[in-house]
Amino acid sequence: MTDLRIKIGDITFSNPVFTASGTFGYGTEVSDLTDVSKLGAIVTKSVTLFPREGNPPPRVVETPAGMINSIGLANVGVERYIREMIPLYDNIGTKVIMNIAGTTLEEYCDVLEKVEVISSNICGYEINISCPNVKKGGMQFGVDSSMTEALTAEMRKRTERLIIMKLSPNVTDITSIAKAAENGGADAVSAINTVVGMSIDSETGKSQIYTTYGGLSGPAIKPIGLATVHKVYQSVNIPVIGLGGITTGLDAVEYLLAGAVAVQVGTATFRHADAGEQIINELHQFGDSKSIEKISSLTGAVKTYTK
Ligand code: FUM
Repeated sequence: MTDLRIKIGDITFSNPVFTASGTFGYGTEVSDLTDVSKLGAIVTKSVTLFPREGNPPPRVVETPAGMINSIGLANVGVERYIREMIPLYDNIGTKVIMNIAGTTLEEYCDVLEKVEVISSNICGYEINISCPNVKKGGMQFGVDSSMTEALTAEMRKRTERLIIMKLSPNVTDITSIAKAAENGGADAVSAINTVVGMSIDSETGKSQIYTTYGGLSGPAIKPIGLATVHKVYQSVNIPVIGLGGITTGLDAVEYLLAGAVAVQVGTATFRHADAGEQIINELHQFGDSKSIEKISSLTGAVKTYTK
């Protein structure tokens, strides 16, 4: 049987299939629908210093082969997250990666510090520098390599847990942002967050999203995700976690071949809450059918025609 275990930093994950932030709540809401303990890890929705209502509706719309969201980082805020969610992780049966967002460098630091001083089994932090749907913070960090490096370094100073910087595809050169994250001390990067998109109802002439633009996810962006992961994989020496439109085990295989060490499943879970579990089963079937000893051997093994 193919060994699905993978490593990021010092942490070994039972398999390379994680949930994507913003698509699986805090990881505590879906246990009736899927066995979360089968997942390699849960990545929580973004948590900010203060509670956020998010953007007004409509904030989600289905599009061909995808979905546009503009949630605006709605969340309960770090104090309530610590009180109500973190204790539930004690028996969750898988690894938890907390996603953090902020409007200023200080806010990111404050959130992380508040979690660092309590006891928890969170194994790492994914730092959201790529949300396209808020006016302040988020993507402002992810489009600027010096801000990315500075924020990563501040996060690094404050924790020995994993630091994973989540990158935006909405930039001119994502490799320079990935390098900045590496220089700042990140253990890994995840790519890609959503692609800025728009949807219009031709009957009414209205924008389908309150904020006009939102983030496109789902199979429509898989080719963009693959190309981005491949470019980032070639430009840094830290692991890349791939996401964008993964709905099957074979999609996950493509991301691994492009250079990902692990993948995150997001939009697919809106159709099937157990999409992650199905993808793990399909990875096992793929690995066994090809007599692959370790799934990690696929990382970066794509055969390209040119260098
Ligand atoms: O609008 C949102 O909450 C989206 C967040 C993200 O894409 O990071």
